[in-house]
Amino acid sequence: MQSIVITGAAGRIGRTIAPLLEREGRRLVLLDHEVPADATGDWVEATVTDRDALAAALAGADTVVHLAGIPVEDEWESILSTNIDGTHAVLSAAHDAGVGRVLLASSIHAAGYWSAADLHDHPFEPRPDTLYGVSKAAMEALGSVFADRFGMSIVSARICTFLEHPAVDAVPGRTIATWLSPADMVRLVEAVVALEEPGHHLVWAVSANAQGWFPLEAGRAIGFEPQDDAVQWFLDRDGRTPDLPSRDDLLAGGFVGDGHPLGERWG
Ligand SMILES: NC(=O)c1ccc[n+]([C@@H]2O[C@H](COP(=O)([O-])OP(=O)(O)OC[C@H]3O[C@@H](n4cnc5c(N)ncnc54)[C@H](O)[C@@H]3O)[C@@H](O)[C@H]2O)c1
Repeated sequence: MQSIVITGAAGRIGRTIAPLLEREGRRLVLLDHEVPADATGDWVEATVTDRDALAAALAGADTVVHLAGIPVEDEWESILSTNIDGTHAVLSAAHDAGVGRVLLASSIHAAGYWSAADLHDHPFEPRPDTLYGVSKAAMEALGSVFADRFGMSIVSARICTFLEHPAVDAVPGRTIATWLSPADMVRLVEAVVALEEPGHHLVWAVSANAQGWFPLEAGRAIGFEPQDDAVQWFLDRDGRTPDLPSRDDLLAGGFVGDGHPLGERWG
């Protein structure tokens, strides 16, 4: 029986992809510090900084999909504890339990001060736009050191904008370039589950949007072949090619600028 542990399984990405990952001969262990009252399946209610709970949850696992974390800007102490200490605890537990593969949910915000045009020369160089982005750059560095030290297969995936569909506003915006569809997120997880090659693999987690901002070669090298396309989605809906955002805009999008001070909790 193959076993996959998903941390942060009660969140937006986790609750969307978990049902799509169910297979004959596969066990999903769903971990979150806030388990929904109506949850069904194999749940563990625990924080990712609880080492004992992680050891129990990861025993016998083949793959860990680490989604748990604060997904926006917040105070440093919270970011440090949940996103950086949490990732360290998950990777340590995965190593201790002999888990071969880990998928880390990094973010476009690890590189938000680059523009799409910059990615040609700097495809993976970190340039965080927030303390949140710093925590994702740290996540990637932690993935790298665990892979190099212990021969684990670790994929740090810079998730761009995970949405059911790319239309968040009435008119198409940045998501036409940054959309990651649920089906493509599942393709990424399946690629990691099947990954044999050890090492740290840093990939862009984005659909095959015709806008083509993001280098997809590193993803393809680990078997991640995204298939959805936001431009096509708008064409199908509206019958015409939508206006496209500029490649010279910062990848940060709404995470910088007025109303989004560094280190202050959103919302
Ligand atoms: N949604 C996106 O477009 C996007 C983009 C880039 C990166 N990401 C990353 O992907 C991951 C999942 O994103 P999401 O949109 O599902 O976020 P979300 O906030 O909806 O889900 C995160 C889940 O983690 C859980 N969690 C938080 N702290 C925890 C802790 N200490 N222990 C255990 N569980 C904890 C929360 O309860 C929540 O269910 C996050 O790490 C986020 O930074 C998401």
